[in-house]
Amino acid sequence: MAVELLIDESRIRERLGAMGRQIEDDYRDKPLTIVAVLTGSLIALADLVRQIRIPLRIALLQASSYRGATTAATTLVVNEAFAPDVVGRDVLLLDDILDTGQTLGALVEHLKDRGARSVRTAVLLRKIGRQIVPIEPDYCGFVIPDAFVVGYGLDYNDEYRHLPYVGVLGDS
Ligand code: XMP
Repeated sequence: MAVELLIDESRIRERLGAMGRQIEDDYRDKPLTIVAVLTGSLIALADLVRQIRIPLRIALLQASSYRGATTAATTLVVNEAFAPDVVGRDVLLLDDILDTGQTLGALVEHLKDRGARSVRTAVLLRKIGRQIVPIEPDYCGFVIPDAFVVGYGLDYNDEYRHLPYVGVLGDS
C-alpha cells in the first residue's frame, strides 16, 4: 500500500531533541525510568533516550487490548512477563501514539499500582478527534489529523515499522 509522507526524519529528530532537553530539565536529580510500550514506541525510545544526558533507566511494557464481543468497550491486558520494577521511581511512560487514550490511561494506573513514585506520559504522536479517556500527555511530539499512520515504529499488520518517517497509509 502507498504511504504518504506526513512527518519527515529531520523534523522528528529535531522534535525529539527538544523533548529530550525538556525531560532533562524536569528530571534532573530524580530517579527516572522511561517505560516504553511495545512495540510501536521502540524507535522513538531509541532516538529519544540518546538525546537525554541525565541518568535514567529503561524498561518495557507490553499490553494488548481486546474488544468485547457484544460491546465496543475494550479491555487492556498487561503482559506480566515484562513487569518493570518501578517501585520508588519517577516513571515517564512512552507510547507511539495517543488515539482514544485508553492504553495510556490504563497503563498510568497500572504503573502507579506497581509502586511508581510518579507517572508522567510522553507520546510521539497525538491524533485529534478520537480521544475518549481524558488524559493530557506531559510531552507530545506532534499533533496529527485523524488518519491511520505508519512508520517510525508504527505498523499496519506488523509491517512498515522500519520506515524512518511517519506517513499516512493510503488505499493503493
Ligand atoms: P489508544 O486508542 O489506546 O491507542 O490511545 C493507542 C494504540 O493504538 C494503536 N494505534 C495506531 N497504530 N497507526 C498505528 O500504527 C495509527 O494510526 C494508530 N492509532 C492507534 C497504537 O498501537 C497505539 O499504541
